[in-house]
Amino acid sequence: MLSIRWPDIDRRSLLIGSASLAAAALSHAGHGRAVIPAKEFTLTAAPGRASLVGAPYPDTDVWSYNASVPGPEIRVRQGERLRIQVENQLTQATTVHWHGLRVPNAMDGVPFLTQSPIASGEKFVYEFDVPDAGTYWYHPHHHSAEQVGRGLSGALIVEEIDPFVVDRDIVWVLGDWRLARNASIVNDFGNRMEVTMAGRIGNTVTINGRVPETISARSGERLRLRLINAAPARIFALEFKNHQPLIVALDGQPVDPHEPPKGRVVLGPAMRADLVLDMIGQPGAASPVVDRFYSDLNYKLVDFAYSDEPPIRTAPLDPPSRMRANTMPEPDLDKVERHVVTLEGGMMSGRSMMMGMMGGHGMGWSINGVAASGHDMAPMITLSRGRSCVLAIRNETAWHHPIHLHGHSFRVITRNGQPTRDREWLDTVLIPPRETAEIAFVADNPGDWMFHCHILDHQDSGMMAVIRVA
Ligand code: C2O
Ligand code: CU
Repeated sequence: MLSIRWPDIDRRSLLIGSASLAAAALSHAGHGRAVIPAKEFTLTAAPGRASLVGAPYPDTDVWSYNASVPGPEIRVRQGERLRIQVENQLTQATTVHWHGLRVPNAMDGVPFLTQSPIASGEKFVYEFDVPDAGTYWYHPHHHSAEQVGRGLSGALIVEEIDPFVVDRDIVWVLGDWRLARNASIVNDFGNRMEVTMAGRIGNTVTINGRVPETISARSGERLRLRLINAAPARIFALEFKNHQPLIVALDGQPVDPHEPPKGRVVLGPAMRADLVLDMIGQPGAASPVVDRFYSDLNYKLVDFAYSDEPPIRTAPLDPPSRMRANTMPEPDLDKVERHVVTLEGGMMSGRSMMMGMMGGHGMGWSINGVAASGHDMAPMITLSRGRSCVLAIRNETAWHHPIHLHGHSFRVITRNGQPTRDREWLDTVLIPPRETAEIAFVADNPGDWMFHCHILDHQDSGMMAVIRVA
C-alpha cells in the first residue's frame, strides 16, 4: 500500500480559531454566479493576498487572477463564444488552459506547443466557441505545479440550454495548499523526493479559497453541487454522511444519475463531478463531508449546517433524469486504431525505493519510454483526423495518475479488461497503480494535443506526451 510521509504541519492547528469566520467563508462560497456576467472577460494574473485560513492567521501571499482565489467564475451558456483577455503581471511567463473545453488548438494555452508563453507584462487574447455544457476550469499551463500551487485557477461553468431545476447551483473549487504556521505558502516546489511519489500534497484544503467550517443548508432543498479538484496533487474521496448524492455528470459530461461507488466521490486532480444532493437532514442538523482517499489521513472537509427553518418542501422530489448529451461524435468501435500507452517511473515502495535511490536512477516519469523535458515535443502518436481510436493506458507504476487528454473528451470503455458500467465521457481518467484503462474517442480536433498526468509534479518531471491529429 501507499505510504506517504505527511508534512509535519498540523492542519488542525491551522484551523483553530477560524470557526468564527465560517459564515463569512461560506457566504463567499458558491455564490460567485454573478461575478462577471458578460461573454468578454479579462483575467489579470498577479501576485496578491488572500485570507485562506482566516483570523487570527495573516493573509497569504498568493498568485491570483483578478486578485481573487480562486479566480473569477466564468459562466456562459452552451454555444456561446468567449473572449478572454489575459494580462500577465506575474514575474514569470504564463499561459491559460481551458481544461476540458474542446477549443481550437491555437486557443489551448500550451506554451511552446500552441502559443508562445505570455511574457511578464504582456497580454494574450483567447477566443473560442463553447460547444459543450458542463463544469470546467481554467489554469496556467506554464510552470503549472508552482503557478497552480500558488493559487492560479478558476471555475468555468457552461450552463445547459435547458438546465434541470434545483434550488441552488453551487460550485466548490477544491484547493490544496502547503502552508507554514504563519499561513504563508511553503516555498518547496519541485522537491525531488515528492515529485517521484504522490506529488506535492499540502496540509490545508480549501473550498473556494477558504478553509471551510460549515456550509449552510436548508432542510428539503435540492442542490446541484459542482465539484472541481483544482489541487496540484491531492486526490479526494468525499463521503457525504447521512446523504445520498447522485452523480449526474463527470468532467462536465452527463451520465445516468447514480450513487457514487462505495458512497465515495473520487476526484483526482483536474477531475470534476456534478452531484444532485437532496438535503434530507432535519432543521438544525449538522452533517459532515469527509475525505477518505489517503488511508493514513482521513479528515473532515466541512459540515453542512442546517438552518432552523422548516423544510422547503414536504414530499421528496423525483430523482433527476439524465441530462442531454454533449456534442462529441461517437467512436466507431468496429473500426478503431489501437495504441498502447505505458506509464512508467517514480519511486517504488520500501526496499526498491531505496535501491532506486542508491542506483541513482533519475526517478522521473515517462510515457512509452520517453520522459518529456518540455511541452514542445515530437508526437508520440499521430492520428488521422476523423479516425476512431482506442488508447490502452497501462499504469506500470506504484502511484495513481489522473491522465488528461487535451482537445477531446473520451469514453472510458474498459478498466482492467472489464467493460465500464457507464462508458463515461471524461477528459481526465484516474488510473490506480498497476491498472489499465481503455479510452475511445474520435480524433476530430486537428492539432498537437497534450496528453499528460495532472499531478503537476509528475507532468513537470516527464509524464507528458503529444498526440497529433492531422
Ligand atoms: Cu488541466 Cu494540460 O491540463
Ligand atoms: Cu502522475
